[in-house]
Amino acid sequence: MADNILEVQNLTKHFEVSNSVFSRNKKIVKAVDGISFDIKAGETLGLVGQSGCGKTTTARSLCLLDPKTSGIVNFYNPTTKSMESIDSISEDGMRIFRRNMQMIFQDPYESLNPRWTIKDIIKEPLDIHNIGSFSEREEAVVEILRTVGLTPPENYLTRYPHEISGGQRQRVSIARALVMKPKFVVCDEPTSMLDVSIRISIMDLMINLAKNLDVSYLYITHDLAVARYMCDRIAVMYNGKIVELANTEELLKNPIHPYTKRLISSIPVPDPTYKREVYELTQNDLDNVYNLSDNKEDLFDTGNNHYVATHKIEGLL
Ligand SMILES: Nc1ncnc2c1ncn2[C@@H]1O[C@H](COP(=O)(O)OP(=O)(O)O)[C@@H](O)[C@H]1O
Ligand SMILES: [Mg+2]
Repeated sequence: MADNILEVQNLTKHFEVSNSVFSRNKKIVKAVDGISFDIKAGETLGLVGQSGCGKTTTARSLCLLDPKTSGIVNFYNPTTKSMESIDSISEDGMRIFRRNMQMIFQDPYESLNPRWTIKDIIKEPLDIHNIGSFSEREEAVVEILRTVGLTPPENYLTRYPHEISGGQRQRVSIARALVMKPKFVVCDEPTSMLDVSIRISIMDLMINLAKNLDVSYLYITHDLAVARYMCDRIAVMYNGKIVELANTEELLKNPIHPYTKRLISSIPVPDPTYKREVYELTQNDLDNVYNLSDNKEDLFDTGNNHYVATHKIEGLL
């Protein structure tokens, strides 16, 4: 069995928000409310759930863009060949961490500097981390442009983000993330802004890159059909918590949590004559999962590496 590249235990991220500018009352938003999972080397784990359930907050905490509130995050350090807590990382360790953990965002237009050429955008992380000589960096840029299908590379090097299409821009962000040869990439809805026609080609590109470059992904999407296409395992998130986690086929064939059942019943079927029955949640279904285990916080193992949460969920009905 492959080793873990990432271990997350009981991760939480809370935001303090005030109701209005003049209000002294602070409210705590539990955007991520105690989630646990791990990701193995070379594996793609999907994090699926509706808008606002805490996916992006999870991604930002894992990449250290925002500090987590609590919980344990261990990351594989290829230099020491051991799992290291991100809380006790040395300065050297932090450099390794930043090299090995990259992020691809939803909106390539926002994440790419509009005043830079594509060459400079892709080369920047190599410059920051001082990787390779000047000419090696230039070569690495050309090489990665080819890898992500922007060919011939010379046609792209001196262009600006606004001069290429949305799909090509997302290829540039993928190139920028992968030029560092990271072991782990967090992808936050990387295809949701793209036209349907180019979505599949970007997804295929990412799958092939994962195989060829031996990268693991945490693949975030609100779309279960996308997760099915991309992921080895899927974690379903609702309201800051993971409600179900299993291998992709197992989750889709034998969903246990009523929320997962409802998500699955709303995957579109490409057949206009097909009349779908959308699964309606009932209190009875919810009570059935609550009663699976006495331990109401943790994910309950139903066997077959299939985990389901048995905590009470407000507002689902
Ligand atoms: N910087 C922030 N300050 C306050 N609340 C936030 C902040 N970022 C996210 N949230 C809240 O946290 C919850 C989860 O948001 P997010 O992680 O963006 O969800 P998703 O990516 O699944 O759509 C939402 O209720 C959102 O309003
Ligand atoms: Mg988001």
